[in-house]
Amino acid sequence: MTKPNTICTERLILRPFALGDVNDVLAYASDPEWSRFLPVPSPYLFGDAQEFIARSILRNRDEAPSFAIELQGVVIGGVDLQVDATNSIASLHYSIARAHWNQGLMTEAVSGVVNWGFEEFGLAKIYSWADVENVGSWRVMEKIGMTREGTFQSHGVNRGVRQDYHYYGILRSEWKGC
Ligand SMILES: CC(C)(COP(=O)(O)OP(=O)(O)OC[C@H]1O[C@@H](n2cnc3c(N)ncnc32)[C@H](O)[C@@H]1OP(=O)(O)O)[C@@H](O)C(=O)NCCC(=O)NCCS
Repeated sequence: MTKPNTICTERLILRPFALGDVNDVLAYASDPEWSRFLPVPSPYLFGDAQEFIARSILRNRDEAPSFAIELQGVVIGGVDLQVDATNSIASLHYSIARAHWNQGLMTEAVSGVVNWGFEEFGLAKIYSWADVENVGSWRVMEKIGMTREGTFQSHGVNRGVRQDYHYYGILRSEWKGC
């Protein structure tokens, strides 16, 4: 059966990215503060936004569903899952425009997608990670009930500097819904 493409939360509509979203994505992704912890080009140009939208549209929604976060008709970010069907787990990735930080919007969007992921894919676990310095990101994970499972030292590189990451996970049995 086809999985629903749209999730509605209290303030947001989460739906697939579309060709017409390029300028909205460019507006927030060209902000260097937004990309500080993300492996994206900097400076972030129109072509980068076009490529992101193209890749998002082409993603196989049965393996790697992605959602644009729409607020009052404007796309302000995205959430996606990368499903590992063999192990019934998925990794979670998210970002939102700086103008909307610290209003609980990412927590709201991530809750919606985690709920959807457990329901639609029958997942046993959803996990994610964040740079230890990206406090807002790992706070989102804590606020939706994820547990910090460990800190991986020197586990990646950001802008030429090696970084430590907190890893978080939530089991299906722990998910309280939203
Ligand atoms: C990280 C990010 C997703 C958070 O989104 P958001 O919409 O601001 O998140 P929320 O408002 O739902 O929750 C953020 C929480 O972190 C807290 N927070 C943010 N910065 C903080 C800091 N420096 N110290 C302590 N707490 C902080 C906020 O107060 C809030 O918690 P509260 O509701 O208990 O007060 C957003 O900043 C973002 O998109 N950043 C750029 C992309 C990115 O880094 N993505 C994640 C990659 S792992």
